Amino acid sequence: LNESESPETETLRALEAADLKTAVRVFLEAFQVSDPSKTTDVEAFWQLLHQASIGHFVGASEQGEMLGCGALILYPLSAWIAFMAVLPSRRGRGIGNRIMKRLIKRAEETGVKSLNLDATNLGKPLYAKYGFKHRYPVRLYEIVTPAVPEACLRQRVEISDAMPGWCVKTDRDAFGDDRSRLLRLILGRGGKMIIIRHQGFGILWKDKIGPVIAESLEAAHAIVHRAAALGAKKIYVPARKDLPQAFLYGFKEIKPKTSILCCDRMALGESLDENIGKVFASFSAAAG
Ligand SMILES: CC(C)(COP(=O)(O)OP(=O)(O)OC[C@H]1O[C@@H](n2cnc3c(N)ncnc32)[C@H](O)[C@@H]1OP(=O)(O)O)[C@@H](O)C(=O)NCCC(=O)NCCS
Repeated sequence: LNESESPETETLRALEAADLKTAVRVFLEAFQVSDPSKTTDVEAFWQLLHQASIGHFVGASEQGEMLGCGALILYPLSAWIAFMAVLPSRRGRGIGNRIMKRLIKRAEETGVKSLNLDATNLGKPLYAKYGFKHRYPVRLYEIVTPAVPEACLRQRVEISDAMPGWCVKTDRDAFGDDRSRLLRLILGRGGKMIIIRHQGFGILWKDKIGPVIAESLEAAHAIVHRAAALGAKKIYVPARKDLPQAFLYGFKEIKPKTSILCCDRMALGESLDENIGKVFASFSAAAG
């Protein structure tokens, strides 16, 4: 125990690299993930976010035991609240609220005007209390047999480890902020750009394709088709009203078994100037 921690009181503090492994365990237990191989993957991602000062993690502990965690992901114009988790046996005692307050305060201090998050059903009432408003659901699909209309097969698809300048601009216009530092870090860790020049791109990382930003349904299809050939198995699709249903042919929706896997994008403050019409897949979702 550190001197500032009293055994009876809970402490809330910024987490350092050495704390992240414990925080990942709390996060995975909160999301009922029992696959131990996930621990390494999630920790590697959190370390990356922490080292690059993109992710600012906080943890709540009592008597030296971590009970909850959360993070603020900072981009130039917006911040995202992520990885909110409290151990099941410690819920309903205000820990989630205290972590939220701390992250919102931090976001305010940085001066960002737009705060966003992906909420589970358990998180939604908590976020609504702070004024977060529902925007749209984000759904997880398994890529079974991606649709391959003729027009798609004719597209010239390139694979690259680098993110060209026009892709940075395309992503910024669609997402509403510049997250190219994060996306480039992912490319440095084995992510692959799947590109149709000036038509769109996707990022394949491990078994996931996302984001997919494209000018047309054909380009989006071709990107996902190539990603599937290279091993993509899952995709997070924002359920925007104008999404062409044909995009979903060959995908199987993974219906969440528990409400902690449902996901709604929510926002507080100024809206991001995003162009959702070009977003065919998100980079991540609540439990992603
Ligand atoms: C969402 C989560 C982090 C909230 O943590 P928490 O410590 O229970 O949060 P709090 O105790 O501050 O309570 C949050 C709200 O849930 C309500 N609640 C009450 N009892 C509860 C219980 N036994 N379990 C869960 N929530 C309860 C509280 O009333 C509170 O509402 P209020 O702010 O109006 O009082 C937690 O439920 C969790 O880890 N869920 C699984 C992972 C998840 O879904 N994370 C969210 C990602 S977006």
